[in-house]
Amino acid sequence: MIDRLTVDDLDACLALAQERDWPPERHKWALLFEVGTVYGVRDGAGRVIGTTILTRYGASLAAISMVLVARDHERRGIGGALMSHAIGEAGGATIVLNATEYGRPLYERLGFVTVGRTFTHIGHFTGVAEHASRPAGPGDLAAIHRLDTEVNGADRGILVDRLPGFAAEVRAVEGQGGITGYGAVWQNHDNGVIGPVVAETPRDARGLIADLAAGVEGPVRLDLDDRHPELFRWAVERGLDLATSTVVMAHGGPLPGDRRRWFVPMMQALG
Ligand SMILES: CC(C)(COP(=O)(O)OP(=O)(O)OC[C@H]1O[C@@H](n2cnc3c(N)ncnc32)[C@H](O)[C@@H]1OP(=O)(O)O)[C@@H](O)C(=O)NCCC(=O)NCCS
Repeated sequence: MIDRLTVDDLDACLALAQERDWPPERHKWALLFEVGTVYGVRDGAGRVIGTTILTRYGASLAAISMVLVARDHERRGIGGALMSHAIGEAGGATIVLNATEYGRPLYERLGFVTVGRTFTHIGHFTGVAEHASRPAGPGDLAAIHRLDTEVNGADRGILVDRLPGFAAEVRAVEGQGGITGYGAVWQNHDNGVIGPVVAETPRDARGLIADLAAGVEGPVRLDLDDRHPELFRWAVERGLDLATSTVVMAHGGPLPGDRRRWFVPMMQALG
């Protein structure tokens, strides 16, 4: 019943997303197909009516995303079956996800607990670059990878390696001993998304965000982690209004790493 989907099913996944009033985020789904395993359920005619993506970061951490079931097939256990399958395939790794209010009861039933909240801010950035960071190039990727592994407590090399191709811009904060922070901005369907942002201090995070956002034409999206509420007002004062919030949930233990230095996810789908 549960199939492994391929990038040939990308259009079918976008159609399902739109049917659930989610935007058709082609660039994002294409990355998720590359770095994750996409599970799907089809109806008798072959139409994709359910999806869930599992992205593994080594053996200890994984993210689940894009949990979608077609309206005309809801409440028949498809969402639960897809989630149970993905949890099994994670092989005991700690799993992180961002839950909408729709999905939360299902995840709680499956043993996920709330560990935080993400506040999505969207708007035209009215601030200015703070010149707190510099553009990062291919020669910085090894240092960024090391920093990202420390902060996430898991090897997310599959994401770091793809940043130069996926992101519109990657920037780094240089400290005394090398790179102490990094951030990126990438173009989604209808806005420029800031993320990830990893930084030593809230001040460095603000500098990175301002430097990245200043280069975006059109609306900017910023998913701020609730560990750093001091950034909320700063964002709102610069035109990035609070749009929605989701809960961060974990399964199989607390999130590893040094989350104090974790400010913004690359995208909620990747944890
Ligand atoms: C959230 C979502 C994925 C759930 O999918 P689903 O296939 O309906 O999930 P399930 O059928 O496994 O479970 C949903 C409910 O149906 C119930 N159910 C499952 N099988 C059932 C059956 N045979 N008869 C009656 N009820 C049933 C479940 O107990 C559950 O009940 P609850 O809501 O009271 O807890 C779907 O609603 C969706 O795509 N929503 C929009 C996108 C979204 O928000 N996704 C979550 C992102 S975090």
